[in-house]
Amino acid sequence: MSRTYYNTGVDERWAREEQYHASFLLDKHDHDEALDFCLKNSDEHGLPHIAVSGMEGKYIQLQARAIGAKRILELGTLGGYSTIWLARALPADGELVTCEYSPMHAEVAGQNIEHAGLSSKVKIVVGPAAESLAKMDPAHKFDFVFMDADKAGYPVYLEYCKTLVRKGGVIIVDNVVRQGRVSDLSVTDDTDSSGVRRMLEDLKSSPDFEATTVQTVGARSWDGFTFVLRL
Ligand code: SAH
Ligand code: DHB
Ligand code: MG
Repeated sequence: MSRTYYNTGVDERWAREEQYHASFLLDKHDHDEALDFCLKNSDEHGLPHIAVSGMEGKYIQLQARAIGAKRILELGTLGGYSTIWLARALPADGELVTCEYSPMHAEVAGQNIEHAGLSSKVKIVVGPAAESLAKMDPAHKFDFVFMDADKAGYPVYLEYCKTLVRKGGVIIVDNVVRQGRVSDLSVTDDTDSSGVRRMLEDLKSSPDFEATTVQTVGARSWDGFTFVLRL
């Protein structure tokens, strides 16, 4: 069933506001040739336009920097745009592991990360994220996670974060509002929204996490991030 208030697109004021703030806050240190190349090369290889925006990339980067993250995990690499933002939060001896299902996406991401000079810090793991997570060593904890792969998998990924993320670590989850579909329980045919709902239930009952959601509007329409603290 189609609902008219979903996928209503981007209000011109939201995009304008994001652009206005970006004109002050994204300076030459952020907006550079490597990020431009990443988007252009991804587009030329037919990847969908679903990366975080520049302002959102900087938001997750600053969250990672703020906690001094040295080991970062990303679920859902696509062309590596968010990966580049996050890898730049790392100190010289830091590392980022990013999990991607599609070998084609991983190939393009590898090119983009190489072009950005970040290959030595970034490891792309190809395959379903749940399988990759199952093989990781819980002794080797992550400080920061950006969760952005298939949303139906979010409850499973959150469960792995109990063992793989250090106490005091942070998990930021993308696309948790989905233009209002998540809270509209009459939407039963969207496995992504169902995944987010189950994740919220798990967060409610888990003694291991404290979390909040911040809704967003902007160049990417109406969505939101859940910020999760590993207790
Ligand atoms: N984080 C990226 C966007 C990721 S889009 C950015 O902001 O730049 C979501 C990605 O998750 C896609 O590349 C898709 O192929 C990948 N994906 C989908 N299902 C997956 C799974 N089960 N395991 C790992 N990656 C998956
Ligand atoms: C989609 C995935 C994302 O991670 C995102 O930020 C936006 C859209 C998608 O699969 O359509
Ligand atoms: Mg996303």
